Amino acid sequence: MPMLTIQPSGKSVEVEAGKSLLAAILAAGEAIAHKCEGKAECGSCHIYVKEGRKTLSKTTRPENEKLDSIVGVSSSSRLACQAMMGAEDVTVELLSFV
Ligand code: FES
Repeated sequence: MPMLTIQPSGKSVEVEAGKSLLAAILAAGEAIAHKCEGKAECGSCHIYVKEGRKTLSKTTRPENEKLDSIVGVSSSSRLACQAMMGAEDVTVELLSFV
C-alpha cells in the first residue's frame, strides 16, 4: 500500500488508494481543520503536497474555485478533503496546528 508522510511531524502511514487525504490525516491522529466536513466549501483543510502530487486525484472545479479564494495558495496546494490517494507515496505539509 502507498505511504502518506505528514509534515511537520514526519509521521508515515499506509493509505489505501481512493481514500481522501483528509480522512487519512485524521486517521493518523494528526490535527487538521475540516469545518465543512469535506464539501470543498470552507478551505480550512488546505495543505501543501510536497511529493507525489501526480498520483493524487485531479483537482475538480469546486476545489479550484475554493483554492482561488484562499490566501497563501501555491502550485502545490490542495484541499485535503478533495485529494484522493493514488497508487504511489505522497508527502504533505500541514499549514497549522488546530
Ligand atoms: S473540509 Fe472544507 S474544504 Fe475541505
